[in-house]
Amino acid sequence: MLKIDGNFRNKHILSVEQFTKSDITKVLNETNHMKRLVKTKGGNRRLQGKIMTALFYEPSSRTFSSHIAAMQRLGGGVIPIHGTQNSSVKKGETLEDTVRVFGSYSDVIVIRHPEKGSVEKAASFSKVPVINAGDGVGEHPTQALLDLYTISSYFNLDRKVTIAMVGDLKYGRTIHSLSKLLSLFPEVTLLYVSPKSLKVPQKILDYVSEREILFEEISSFKEAIKRADVLYMTRVQKERFKTMASYNKVKDAYILNPVRLVSAKQKMIIMHPLPRINEISTEVDLDPRAVYFTDQMQNGMYVRMALLKLILG
Ligand code: NCD
Repeated sequence: MLKIDGNFRNKHILSVEQFTKSDITKVLNETNHMKRLVKTKGGNRRLQGKIMTALFYEPSSRTFSSHIAAMQRLGGGVIPIHGTQNSSVKKGETLEDTVRVFGSYSDVIVIRHPEKGSVEKAASFSKVPVINAGDGVGEHPTQALLDLYTISSYFNLDRKVTIAMVGDLKYGRTIHSLSKLLSLFPEVTLLYVSPKSLKVPQKILDYVSEREILFEEISSFKEAIKRADVLYMTRVQKERFKTMASYNKVKDAYILNPVRLVSAKQKMIIMHPLPRINEISTEVDLDPRAVYFTDQMQNGMYVRMALLKLILG
């Protein structure tokens, strides 16, 4: 997998492992520009004449539409393929061949696919850059970047910050990518809270410990709420379970509500990549510390504008 090393032009974005700290700074700075651009002018024509295919084999609301909005705000065009029902995939076309097709009509392909590693494989057949919008239980690099941007707009990541990740840490790809990305910031402490059957994969823990950031796997949700500067809640990934019984056992393991928040810090923030099912009660949405429907979600579009500009501009 090609490292970014300061040069995004025409590169695939497949994993956060491609980024150095200075690459991240570049994305975050560019994201600031994009946010300002949208707020003042709505957009520009920077990517006029360029086309992006959004090829989504799995359900998506935010990732799909924010990539499309990002491209359109920069003056580019889009080919939106949402679901495989109406494409040749339905006839049995392979991912490789499908990628060849869209690579000949567009300048960048954003892919979401249920199989881990599939987007990287697709990229190896593509003559245009591919952006990983989630490969099964693997990674979700653009989400990690928008999460990092959101966290860094509240906390200086070069100082001590405690980030608690709660819920389905086994199947949640946003957790995998965000953990790896945060491991570039030595002052960060990660608290992992999950049911026993949904612990963070050992590979991710190994990656994080190699980079010498502190992490703890704890069982107490209460303790995590109390200690967290960032409380990152996640959905139990129903679609990854083999049986409904095993899903039902853990689906309500952690539910955040106003009573639980009584012991939380005043200056903490509550994040969620969304969709939220019932792991955060709706009363929490009104808490000023809840940023999932405000900054976090909007930042997704700004970060994706930044990436598209850096890759294609
Ligand atoms: C996440 C995903 O698809 O991994 N959603 C998203 O892209 N914002 C999280 C989830 O589906 O739970």
